[in-house]
Amino acid sequence: MKVAILGTGNVGQTLGKGFAGLGHSVVVGTRDPQSDTARKAVAAIGKATAMTFADAARAADIAVLATSWSGTEPVARTTAANLADKLVIDAVNALDADFAKGKVALALAGSTSVGEKVQAWMPNAKVVKAFNSVGYPAMVNPSFQLGKPTMFIAGNDGGAKQQTVSLLAQFGWDAVDMGSIEAARLIEPLAPLWIVHALRTGTWTHAFKLLVTN
Ligand SMILES: NC(=O)c1ccc[n+]([C@@H]2O[C@H](COP(=O)([O-])OP(=O)(O)OC[C@H]3O[C@@H](n4cnc5c(N)ncnc54)[C@H](OP(=O)(O)O)[C@@H]3O)[C@@H](O)[C@H]2O)c1
Repeated sequence: MKVAILGTGNVGQTLGKGFAGLGHSVVVGTRDPQSDTARKAVAAIGKATAMTFADAARAADIAVLATSWSGTEPVARTTAANLADKLVIDAVNALDADFAKGKVALALAGSTSVGEKVQAWMPNAKVVKAFNSVGYPAMVNPSFQLGKPTMFIAGNDGGAKQQTVSLLAQFGWDAVDMGSIEAARLIEPLAPLWIVHALRTGTWTHAFKLLVTN
């Protein structure tokens, strides 16, 4: 499978390396494929090619959206046509944060979510919210004493969610489907919860797990 990682930051690099490790062909989307940022991302992934966001989307079977919140709308709109009918895993968080001051809040909350915005900006793509509720170091092959952590997901397309569940299992996660993309409103607040715990404890490798009684 050809996977477009739309983003050159820590999340893009980590998930790109994860997909490459599973034997997939990875293309990295960026504004400038010749930039130092793009070269660094390609080097971190190991085996990948940097392209413009639109070209990466065109080349791909599925995509991961790993852009800053400010870059998300332009990238979603630029890639929308090339991602029609394809799975798009949305890992984006819209945060209003100043870590040094301990301030972490959602920039977008209440009656909407990033997931819903992304689905509206690329109406023909099959958007699935995932990977936003954990820090990048634990996104691929996390190791916890209590077993596999939980990745909450949401999306409108059943087949795309099934594909995401399967990919998450290969990355070492149990997925829990929370429903349509509107449920991204419930999943996205897990990010500030995760970050505040990190700031209070100085640990950056925790994750959420849904426990069910026997
Ligand atoms: N860091 C984590 O542990 C973590 C965990 C879960 C979710 N997230 C979320 O995942 C996303 C990616 O996070 P990150 O830390 O890996 O990277 P990031 O620094 O937040 O974003 C990097 C990407 O955003 C693109 N970008 C920035 N401004 C843009 C603009 N105006 N137009 C188009 N593209 C623009 C950059 O493009 P160029 O390549 O052209 O520079 C780059 O590819 C964020 O939404 C973040 O909240 C992060």
